Amino acid sequence: MNPQLEQDLRNFSSLLERTSLEAQKVLTEIDLRAAFKSAIVFEPDVLPETGLGARGALEVFLEKYAHQMTGSAGARYLGFVTGGATPASLMGDWLCSTFDNNAADPVLSITPQLERVTLAMLRDLFSLSDAHSGAFVSGATMSSFVGLAQARQWFGLQFGVNIAQDGLYGLPRLKIFSGTPHSSIFKALSMLGMGRGSLELVSTLPDREAVDIAALRTALEQHGAPCIVVANAGTVNTVDFDDLEAIHALKTEFPFWLHLDAAFGGFAATSPEFSGLVAGMDRADSITIDAHKWLNVPYDSAMQFSRHQNLQLEVFQNTGAAYLGAIGDNPEFVHLTPENSRRFRALPAWFTLLAYGREGHAEIVTRNVNLARGLGERIERSSDFKLLASVRMNVVCFTLTNPNQTQITTLLERIRDEGKIFLTPTNYKGIPAIRAAFSNWRTTQSDLELIWESLAKAVRI
Ligand SMILES: Cc1ncc(COP(=O)(O)O)c(C=O)c1O
Repeated sequence: MNPQLEQDLRNFSSLLERTSLEAQKVLTEIDLRAAFKSAIVFEPDVLPETGLGARGALEVFLEKYAHQMTGSAGARYLGFVTGGATPASLMGDWLCSTFDNNAADPVLSITPQLERVTLAMLRDLFSLSDAHSGAFVSGATMSSFVGLAQARQWFGLQFGVNIAQDGLYGLPRLKIFSGTPHSSIFKALSMLGMGRGSLELVSTLPDREAVDIAALRTALEQHGAPCIVVANAGTVNTVDFDDLEAIHALKTEFPFWLHLDAAFGGFAATSPEFSGLVAGMDRADSITIDAHKWLNVPYDSAMQFSRHQNLQLEVFQNTGAAYLGAIGDNPEFVHLTPENSRRFRALPAWFTLLAYGREGHAEIVTRNVNLARGLGERIERSSDFKLLASVRMNVVCFTLTNPNQTQITTLLERIRDEGKIFLTPTNYKGIPAIRAAFSNWRTTQSDLELIWESLAKAVRI
């Protein structure tokens, strides 16, 4: 055995203890760490001929890089919809790497079974019926990729073509209709050979990001052929929700596959106060919900739910490898997802669901929304800022009283450089704007006070 490996094997326990101490330091001091740091350009490392050993590598990381890492897992990082990692989910993640089982392995491991158990708990959390089978993938983008791949397969079958077998050749152009799709939908369409340009934006309701059902109806009528509708539950700027029941009702008149991007809006289902926003979610043919956002598990993790496992199997089956055996009645994940070998992503989710239950996860959602509302109220009372949309859930979309792009950029840079909070810029219906997204389990009222202090200070300089 290589001497460094041999030494690390001997010192495994002390190496893990040391790493755990470093992790503890990061987590207990996360509030002191800047929520954002401009990336420095560092001297690149070169492949050593003789390795440094695990302790040596750790020392280099601590000395050169650890202090440059941001506190994005902390309470006052309000960029994108990042979420953090609950204590239990982090424990699950450590153990996932520790066991390093292949979650695709149907024979040697209990991991697929535990993934199914976790998905059943998640179905319960989101009030989805058993009609939806599920799988873990790396993020919402891949979840929509899997959903839209099934939609593509369904589309081919409407013309008697098995696309998984024969490709898209000779088929009419597949159209996709959506009100305010996330950029990841375009990426998935590109990866699937359907083309970013095949998505036609449908008008939204006045002053809203939710699709105008009458306009969608007209678009489907004019198209007059099988197609895909991507519905949105939780748009990134204003957390707006399409009327899912009304979209589903259009299926009685028009042939389309209904894919739902509920990457973080799906969490509305966790609380009676918001569940009406996602009424009808269960009717979608395929659903995207992220775990590394509002479930607060570490990156990379999302769920993909589907009512059409048969089509999923047609697309993703990995046949021809004798060691995998035949596909049974309950197909293994290797036949349902893009990856063959798979990380045991379900374990962090299993840990957090068991540790905090329905109540714990609903509390994170409700607290985050109440904090977003608190920020929205302060903005409404302020003479410096203006709300651009009512605070529907966890995102506050606002701007300066007289907004222009340069002022917004300067303000955000000032806030970012102070390091206490982090917010991202956006553009809402042509207006340069700011987004504050609350999705971290740690964020509390005292953080809101600091967030407001930081904003008020930056705008007055
Ligand atoms: C509504 C929505 N859909 C999809 C995505 C893509 O998610 P991921 O980065 O996990 O692929 C996001 C991420 O911000 C999102 O907010």
